Amino acid sequence: MKPAAHTSKAIRLSVLVAGMAGLAVGFMAWQQVKLEYRSSLDDLSRRSRSIAFRASLTVKEALKHPDVEAARSLGTRLDGHSRLLGLAVYRPDGRLLSSGSAIDDYLGALTAPVTRALGTQAEVVEMTPAGDIQLHILVTPLRDEQGVIGGVLVALHDASYLDDRMTEGLVRGAFWILVITMLLMTVTAALTWTVYERPLRLLTGWMRRLRVENAADEPPPALPDSALATETDRLAASLRAARSSSWTVSSEAVQTDKAWTRERLRAHAIECLHGDQLIVVSNREPYMHQLKDGEPRAIVPASGVVTAMDPVLQACGGVWIAHGAGDADHETADAEGRLTVPPGDARYTLRRMWLTREEEAGYYYGFSNEGLWPLCHLVHERPVFRASDWEAYRLANRKFADAVLEETKGSRAMVLVQDYHLALVPQMLKASRPDLKVGIFWHIPWPNPEAFRTCPWRVEILQGMLGADLVGFHLQQHCNNFLDTVDRMLETRIDWDDFSVAAKAHKTLVRPFPISIQSWAERAMPGGEALQKQIADLKDRHGLEDTAIAVSVDRIDYTKGIPERLRAIERFFEQHPQHRGRITFVQLGAPSRTHIRRYRDFLTEIESLADEINWKLQTERWKPIRLLVSHHDAATVHAFLRMASVCVVSSLHDGMNLVAKEYVSAREDGDGVLVLSEFAGAARDLPDALIVNPYDTGEFSEALRQAVEMPPKERKERMGRMRAAVEERNIYRWAADLLTTLARTGKPSTLTAEASPRT
Ligand code: F6P
Repeated sequence: MKPAAHTSKAIRLSVLVAGMAGLAVGFMAWQQVKLEYRSSLDDLSRRSRSIAFRASLTVKEALKHPDVEAARSLGTRLDGHSRLLGLAVYRPDGRLLSSGSAIDDYLGALTAPVTRALGTQAEVVEMTPAGDIQLHILVTPLRDEQGVIGGVLVALHDASYLDDRMTEGLVRGAFWILVITMLLMTVTAALTWTVYERPLRLLTGWMRRLRVENAADEPPPALPDSALATETDRLAASLRAARSSSWTVSSEAVQTDKAWTRERLRAHAIECLHGDQLIVVSNREPYMHQLKDGEPRAIVPASGVVTAMDPVLQACGGVWIAHGAGDADHETADAEGRLTVPPGDARYTLRRMWLTREEEAGYYYGFSNEGLWPLCHLVHERPVFRASDWEAYRLANRKFADAVLEETKGSRAMVLVQDYHLALVPQMLKASRPDLKVGIFWHIPWPNPEAFRTCPWRVEILQGMLGADLVGFHLQQHCNNFLDTVDRMLETRIDWDDFSVAAKAHKTLVRPFPISIQSWAERAMPGGEALQKQIADLKDRHGLEDTAIAVSVDRIDYTKGIPERLRAIERFFEQHPQHRGRITFVQLGAPSRTHIRRYRDFLTEIESLADEINWKLQTERWKPIRLLVSHHDAATVHAFLRMASVCVVSSLHDGMNLVAKEYVSAREDGDGVLVLSEFAGAARDLPDALIVNPYDTGEFSEALRQAVEMPPKERKERMGRMRAAVEERNIYRWAADLLTTLARTGKPSTLTAEASPRT
């Protein structure tokens, strides 16, 4: 649409609105003027009557006498003054007896009303034009004591001032009509421009740029309707998600044996979704805005959920609902908490939802991370279960479920619930919308039934999860533990061939989906010289120029086996002093859950342990351990992984651990050694790593030696096999498996299933 057309529409609208308002105001002004005229006329008639009444006694007396005497007795009493032109007296036969001196010119105008008054014997009031003035004539019959008409008395006024007043009123009304119309036109045009024209023009330009240039800028703000803004965000995200390939892909392409790529997943997702919306819901958001130097800055939280799900949403488009926990999250989202992400390259919608501090304390820090986290990770950390935390957990799950229900209102959807924070959400969703396809993926291990039964709300958690059509874990072992747990605690039918649980009319499949990553090659990371420079800068900044690097990247969490790792490093250098000064262990640690005392204490514990070991082993120019505690962005993590000849992952218990796979992916040169805990799920996928028991300091330190001394040929062979595995079983394949399995789950049941606890 041409801009001119926009303008004329705005003007037409404002002319229409102003014209209608002008007509209404004009009509009202006209009514007002008429009212004023009538009331002035009434006033004049009243005044006329009172004058006539006051003169009537004298006139009646005069009428008793013959004409000449009567006229003399009236003398000048019939003369007027000001607007009263004068009085006139007529005999009952219509003859003029006497009149005021100024009346002579108008006597002709009096004949008709006088005749009428004498004929009807009643008062006559009328307005008559005479020359260039308006006459107000009042004719009053005069009766004697017997009621016989002795004559009539006429009071004559110049009423031209009434017309003048009316004209003045009309001119004043016209003036205000003009002012109001102009004002309304201006205000309507300005409002139309600000609220509709401008945003829509910007939207048009933005859509054109998106379509033609594939531009990455955000949709214009302040669209006239929030639903339009939401749909625009989604449209943009979907278009961007679709930009490098067509949405129409034959099933042949989907069936191909080629590697799983973003495009292939996208095509596959279209087949699985059948037009349904894709909704992801998790506690942790993929992009969090934090204030830095007073400005909001987007950071990607250190989280397995984020690492895994962000590329999936970027490929498929959709909506990700998550808790907005950043201190600048409110100000960077719209009124509904929505924004498109990744920032500057919108591919899907992030819908933030808000929790109060109290809710967050009970639900996230309390039940999720002091209760379920240690319950599911077998690291000899006691879970803490508080009734108040459980209540907050239930309420927060309700909030997440409501956000999903709101987002899916009126449309069909596939909902991927993420992780242990939201165990109750599947059942809550199905209770309201049995037609939704709901999967829950548990990113952490599932313990054996003996461990799980310590949870006072074990039944509710299981019932909540079994609301889903599909429950996913990383490992078959976790699926087995889960089914064992369900078997012991709920009255259900478990099909061990099919790996499913049936409760009433609802069936839940339980399947392993070993999660993976998007390769670094696909992300916008510096390469070539830029990467070399970045590595040189980092080495320079941290005094690492002269040594080889071994790296670990973790959230600071007691499940990650960091003290065990530090002890193994200490043992390694003690037993193999020839390596001192030649290799440095860099620990990148992202502070995590620091409101929980155990996590704060843990940070202090590893800092003092690193300090103790450094103190013992350091030389003048070298320290064995560099503990870098901070939120490290993806580029920094990538550079460290790329420069490290060894990567150490020593979780005491871990669902998968994606750092292991990220290291493999970062080593594009095919070199490098991975030392990996046997208790991390990744150990099943990467048997070519040096697998260690992190509790066994001797074995662990020997693995470190092996890693450092491994011949290049063996390093390359192992790394080659690991890279092939990670490339083949990447995050796209994981998502495709999950979506395929969820899409194939049975027809939605209208009954809400809830297995009863075993008694
Ligand atoms: O690896 C996945 C995971 O451990 C999640 O289960 C967890 O939510 C996340 O990484 C990081 O923890 P948080 O969300 O508490 O920062």
